[in-house]
Amino acid sequence: MAVNTRTVSAKELKRQAEFGEKVSALLSQRYTDKPLACVVTYGCQQNVADSEHIKGMLDKMGYAFTDKREEAKLVIFNTCAVREHAEDRVFGNVGALKKYKLANPDVIIALCGCMMQQKHIAKRIYDSFPFVDLVFGTHVVHELPELLYKAMTRRKRVFELPDVDGVIAEGIPVKRDNDSKAWLPIMYGCNNFCSYCVVPYVRGRERSRQVDDIVAEFKELVSEGYKEITLLGQNVNSYGKNLEPRVTFAQLLRMLNDVDGDFRIRFMTSHPKDCTKELLETMAECDKVATHLHLPFQSGNDRVLKAMNRGYTREKYLSLINYAKELMGDELSITSDIIVGFPGETYEEFLDTLSLVKEIKATGLFTFIYSPRVGTPAAEMDDPVPHDEKAKWLAQILEAQEQISAENMKLHAGKTFKCYVVGKGKLGDNYLAARTDGNLIIEFEGDDRLIGTFQTLKVIEPLTFVMRGELVNN
Ligand code: 5AD
Ligand code: SF4
Repeated sequence: MAVNTRTVSAKELKRQAEFGEKVSALLSQRYTDKPLACVVTYGCQQNVADSEHIKGMLDKMGYAFTDKREEAKLVIFNTCAVREHAEDRVFGNVGALKKYKLANPDVIIALCGCMMQQKHIAKRIYDSFPFVDLVFGTHVVHELPELLYKAMTRRKRVFELPDVDGVIAEGIPVKRDNDSKAWLPIMYGCNNFCSYCVVPYVRGRERSRQVDDIVAEFKELVSEGYKEITLLGQNVNSYGKNLEPRVTFAQLLRMLNDVDGDFRIRFMTSHPKDCTKELLETMAECDKVATHLHLPFQSGNDRVLKAMNRGYTREKYLSLINYAKELMGDELSITSDIIVGFPGETYEEFLDTLSLVKEIKATGLFTFIYSPRVGTPAAEMDDPVPHDEKAKWLAQILEAQEQISAENMKLHAGKTFKCYVVGKGKLGDNYLAARTDGNLIIEFEGDDRLIGTFQTLKVIEPLTFVMRGELVNN
């Protein structure tokens, strides 16, 4: 493990719990009812998981929750730095709170997450948003009780942004947003340094949670009735590299698959550089592991992939996909992330990405126009193609994928899928909606008592966004 990554000690966690009690006492002095907190989350599932811990700590300190910023006594924005657009939204939304804060000086405005971990952003917040009371980075989320206490009792603003390689904090309370779907981080940080990406700079070095901690949390989720549990990491395929004894991600999956109960395991994100045959075989063999592979290729052109520092070629990517298809056949659902308009990418190079899209026939794509990030190597590269041109390229990808998705849907007619029934459907009064392994929705007529169970469904009619199906008696 890198020298500067560490597990937060039990003593430190106890100290934070004591600060939590002090905050509770302050809140009951200041407010007769439970004060409301509003936690706004931007970006990826890791941020969603962090926000669930933030809410867990706030809940313990005596806050209740609201979605309305302007009725909250504490507003926390958990920010994302991955693209400029996400950052602009945060600046806009924080700016919009100025009036509310000035009219209600007891309200605390706090910012955290990846954006804050960038020095130029923290400086901008410090200089231009003086009504923001508390700013904290990605490595000190577990210190929220202490930071909040300081923000409530000091006249000074609190900025806590240590630049360390990263920490792991176990046993932090959690308040989950959903009662059937849960996020379970298995590792934090990233060591890949893709040349366009800010994540390794703001989330620190790769560090894996101990197997025992993950298994214990997983079992708890299953016993609480969670049915879809998604394992999270920037690159789950390098899970366990720093653990002693070494454990592979595939081994972890098998352990979780062996836990008793009726549930489905998902995971994201996989990196093609580290995706092993062992992992694909494990997916195929483990009945509770969803046959969904989110394996971002970013570009279909080898020169661009090299400039992105991705560590694989188009051919290597295709060989993984073909092996996965060989093992899992029609059951397999592939999704990917794509960046269009990487600095110096030519139209011909972009066409390689388009052809890869057509070759793979993914269930879904997450497509982005390249966004320069301060401090990354790509931000220093020549970027002559105008944004409007890149937008046209992106539109070509979207058009191709729309056609592929429609064709994929047609191919599903007559097939059966194991589905988790999520709730009421939209096709008619007695329709229920259920999710396949590949995250597709099938609606079928059924009794409300089936909600929250797994059922086998046969597709009768693929529609545009959902499929109509029927229950198969098993
Ligand atoms: N510009 C555009 N997209 C980006 N991503 C990461 N960094 C950038 C960037 N600078 C995309 C990648 C990644 C996803 C989470 O976000 O496709 O897989
Ligand atoms: Fe960013 Fe690459 Fe790490 Fe993903 S693998 S978080 S794209 S650096």
